[in-house]
Amino acid sequence: MTHLAVQHVSKFYANGTQALADVSLHAGEGEILAVVGSSGCGKTTLLRLIAGLDQSSAGAIAVGGQVMHGTHPTISAVFQEPRLLAWLTVAGNIGFGGRRLKPAERDARTEALLGRIGLAGYGKRLPKDLSGGQQQRVSIARALIGHPGILLLDEPFSALDPFTRASLHDLLLGLWQELKPTVVIVTHDVEEAVFLADRVVVMRPRPGRVSETITPRLSRPRDKLSPLFDAAKRRVMQAIDRSLSEEHRPPPRQAADGSSLWW
Ligand SMILES: Nc1ncnc2c1ncn2[C@@H]1O[C@H](COP(=O)(O)OP(=O)(O)OP(=O)(O)O)[C@@H](O)[C@H]1O
Ligand SMILES: [Mg+2]
Repeated sequence: MTHLAVQHVSKFYANGTQALADVSLHAGEGEILAVVGSSGCGKTTLLRLIAGLDQSSAGAIAVGGQVMHGTHPTISAVFQEPRLLAWLTVAGNIGFGGRRLKPAERDARTEALLGRIGLAGYGKRLPKDLSGGQQQRVSIARALIGHPGILLLDEPFSALDPFTRASLHDLLLGLWQELKPTVVIVTHDVEEAVFLADRVVVMRPRPGRVSETITPRLSRPRDKLSPLFDAAKRRVMQAIDRSLSEEHRPPPRQAADGSSLWW
């Protein structure tokens, strides 16, 4: 079943920049979708529209078949920087994501999540006393405590070293297997996209559009060193190459009957 549907969405900013042009994509319930594309092709804009933090100029976004207006309680987001509240403890930050829950349920989930993210006993610390990777784990727990139907991740691991990143991939997949949210993750890292996603959406810029969608078709758990993994990575890299060459193709010229002809 289609859980998230982005339908013919365009976005113009007030300064006239067209960030997205006629973007359509969908994600089934519990599916992991990765979005890759060059800088400026509208990935963050797309996530902000799905999160309801900004409004599209045209088109619609539907969750569970219902067109969305504004924020939606079933959607939560994690950004590149952890964005934790400095004055709340680690447990307080996780609990903040579950502020709609009854206190006893919220506290029980916070405690369980602290264990799942490997930070049992860290609940009373302040965010400033954690490493970057630990802070990002807290922000993932904060996003998941309310058991969201849709989890949006905007380059959540790009500031982290490869070891921490790999352990957070495992953490994310473990929590995903438990809670099965629909996930949309923006990344610059092709290996990360192929490791995590059921489908990889390749975007191209100026204005941001969907170029193509690649399905890695790999069983889980995935082996980053297998030839099949390599082949899937290559297919995504080739799609990125095609998206860049399309960018440099001259615009279509008009035929006498008004239809478009490519040079
Ligand atoms: N608030 C804004 N006002 C005007 N233009 C904006 C605004 N935010 C983004 N843009 C422009 O919209 C386009 C898409 O930006 P966006 O941040 O969505 O790209 P991105 O794919 O997330 O890039 P990156 O990979 O660098 O994070 C860019 O040309 C950007 O300059
Ligand atoms: Mg961005």
